[in-house]
Amino acid sequence: MDSIITNQIAPVGTSFLTDVLQGLQSKPKFLSSKYFYDEKGDRIFQQIMDMDEYYLTDAEMEIMEQQSSELARFIAVDNQPFDLIELGAGDATKSIHLLNALLKQQLTFTYFPIDISTHVINDLEENLPKKLPQLKMEGLNGDYFKMLKKAKEISSRRKVVLFMGANIGNMNLTDAEQFCCDLRNELSQNDLLIIGFDLKKNPKQILAAYNDSAGITRSFNLNLLDRINNELDGDFDVSKFDHYASYDPETGACKSYLISLQEQWVNVGDETIHFDANEFIYMEISQKYSLEDVDALAKKSGFNPIHRFFDHQEYFTDAVWKVD
Ligand code: AVJ
Repeated sequence: MDSIITNQIAPVGTSFLTDVLQGLQSKPKFLSSKYFYDEKGDRIFQQIMDMDEYYLTDAEMEIMEQQSSELARFIAVDNQPFDLIELGAGDATKSIHLLNALLKQQLTFTYFPIDISTHVINDLEENLPKKLPQLKMEGLNGDYFKMLKKAKEISSRRKVVLFMGANIGNMNLTDAEQFCCDLRNELSQNDLLIIGFDLKKNPKQILAAYNDSAGITRSFNLNLLDRINNELDGDFDVSKFDHYASYDPETGACKSYLISLQEQWVNVGDETIHFDANEFIYMEISQKYSLEDVDALAKKSGFNPIHRFFDHQEYFTDAVWKVD
């Protein structure tokens, strides 16, 4: 572990209660999917990625396994040292292929994985050096933008930002545009953004990925109620809620909800929340894109789309955008 410079910064924990109460006291009710990922949530998400119905992971994995050396060539335009910053690094099982390709091409770079989960960053710092002993890395635990600023303080090298896994899908189109503009404003000319999108496709296939027969996605959503019970002194009876997923081919919005199965009152912290029978909590959006949607988003946020990578079924794309 001595070869890694650790830079642990505690993620903001205090806003969890505020956010949850704000969402549950709104009409309609909502919770933020960014809170899905406690230790149990991380584990359920692993199971989701292993499901037959969840095609996204295999599709992007195929891109990274088969096209990483070509992607590395887009990154290494001038052979100058750079920083590779990954937003929401997870266990890096996909990006490891790119890291490998970059090391093979003998490029000088530091890998800055950023993740909101302490657990994820700790695991990466323990395991990645075993797999890639030559890798220079510095894990950053916390909010994407705060940690991106931190990376800019640490180093002034050209930035290559990785935002894979269709994580952008967890924002609606308006928020995604704002996010990309904010990202653009943190970057400089010739910096790159490599960003993964799940593409619009047969609606039944999309819906099945978020409404699996084994009920794994259902437990993924219900786990947030358990987390509220554990961390915020809540008393949700999870058996009184059910998972409902929908996909709208017109807008590309795939949404999930928890439905209250009866009228009920739930305590969270010092507050009591009332639910009507059949009232929903909006839990998550997983926005799907057409190729036109992807390019339009790049341009609206000040990027120049320069290349797109696809899996052989064209389920998924990793787009390479350059700062204009
Ligand atoms: C991690 C945001 C890409 O939206 O597909 C999977 C999360 N939610 N199944 C997605 C998720 C339900 C996932 N992302």
